[in-house]
Amino acid sequence: MPLTLSRAELVRSANFIAGQWTAAASAARLDVTDPATGAAITAVPDSGAAEARAALDAAHAAFPAWRKLPAKQRAAIIKRWNDLVLAHQDDLGTLISLEQGKPLAEGKGEVAYAASYIEWFAEEATRMNGEVIPAPVPGRRMFALKEPVGVVAAITPWNFPAAMIARKIAPALAAGCTVVCKPAEDTPLTSLALVLLAHEAGVPAGVLNIVTASRENTPEVVDLWLDDARVRKITFTGSTPVGKHLARRSADTLKKLSLELGGNAPFIVFEDADIGAAVDGFMAAKFRNGGQTCVCPNRVFVHAQVHEEFASQLAARVGALKVGPASDPASQIGPMINDRAVEKIERHVQDAVAKGAKVLTGGRRLTDLGATYYAPTVLTGADASMACACEETFGPVAPLTVFHDEAEVVAAANDTPFGLAAYFYSQDVRRIWRVADALETGIVGINEGAISAEAAPFGGVKESGYGREGSTHGLDDYLHTKYICQGLLD
Ligand code: SIN
Repeated sequence: MPLTLSRAELVRSANFIAGQWTAAASAARLDVTDPATGAAITAVPDSGAAEARAALDAAHAAFPAWRKLPAKQRAAIIKRWNDLVLAHQDDLGTLISLEQGKPLAEGKGEVAYAASYIEWFAEEATRMNGEVIPAPVPGRRMFALKEPVGVVAAITPWNFPAAMIARKIAPALAAGCTVVCKPAEDTPLTSLALVLLAHEAGVPAGVLNIVTASRENTPEVVDLWLDDARVRKITFTGSTPVGKHLARRSADTLKKLSLELGGNAPFIVFEDADIGAAVDGFMAAKFRNGGQTCVCPNRVFVHAQVHEEFASQLAARVGALKVGPASDPASQIGPMINDRAVEKIERHVQDAVAKGAKVLTGGRRLTDLGATYYAPTVLTGADASMACACEETFGPVAPLTVFHDEAEVVAAANDTPFGLAAYFYSQDVRRIWRVADALETGIVGINEGAISAEAAPFGGVKESGYGREGSTHGLDDYLHTKYICQGLLD
């Protein structure tokens, strides 16, 4: 896809620190590539500790003034940011598609999704109400006030380069926090463009700083933030092993943490489900972003009575998905993010087939399109011994497992260290609440595959992490509560 934007200056190739676009001190560069071809689009700084420290110094210096700004003024700036993001929807959608590989329509959809969080938190900024607590003794007044936690370090993933920045940075700014951000090495361009627009919207110098780095240099940047007591909160979306590292390393300075980590979502089709609706819901949940979404169903449990019907309808729909370049308006699935991602998908499918699974459709790389394309796949005969049942595949593969009763399938669904999202289809209202209560996840979709929304609390339990993004809870994660007790009032 050619890099032609109606506003060319949205493509930034420098860090943004203290209101200035700056190169890394070492002049080292990191190529940003098109995942479809591996061709370099442009290069950004490959930063290290010096840039991480400069960004943190700037965020720390900017904090006192930003937190004192009346919430209504912070809200107005964030609202302008939202308006600018929407005004640049086509360009930002193009950048997302180019560096991340999702089809253009989905890229533009992600921009609207990102903006919905920015708008939401602009509105929430003015509602950070505290409490007046009835005093238990005479002569006292007691208050609980909300305060920003301080400098926030945001470490963001490649799969939603706009939406994940938006739902971390917008609440941080709304709360009165300042931010240092390290975007994913695969997709820094969208983040840099969003930061430019935030600056144009009036976010003051130093309040929002962004530092890009390669996979190799990322630990140097992030560990500096983890070790520095001035960073009061880490917000991270990514893998569980990295989340655990962040939790361990930030323990010495006891930072507040929001960790949105790996998932292994079950999708259950009960015998009383509306099968057509279940197939629709599954398509929406599973094939969004080519299956590269933390809440994508990873394990599909289908009751024996409806397995054949569900599997055949699903295979027909999946086999008809159009795979192709992100720039082709007909494409529904683009390339995977990189070679490692495709190798993992291949390993999972080969392992499943070696252990007895059958390929109903797909099951191979689409090398005629390019090395990073993988055919949307439906497998039957999957079981818990397979890698695709234990690890998140993060690709367009649907492994179907037959089950026979509710207790068995709930136990199987919960038999994972992860607990982000779960989905099930049933028309029995008593079963619906029984199963929703029994599933050990932070999110449950009942007869619905598209569960994400700015007004909803997004986050997991168990090793999928803690903290919530979006909704009113998403603002709380950037605040602490200060109790004030005033005496001598008699
Ligand atoms: C994610 O994959 O981490 C985010 C997905 C979403 O917001 O729905």
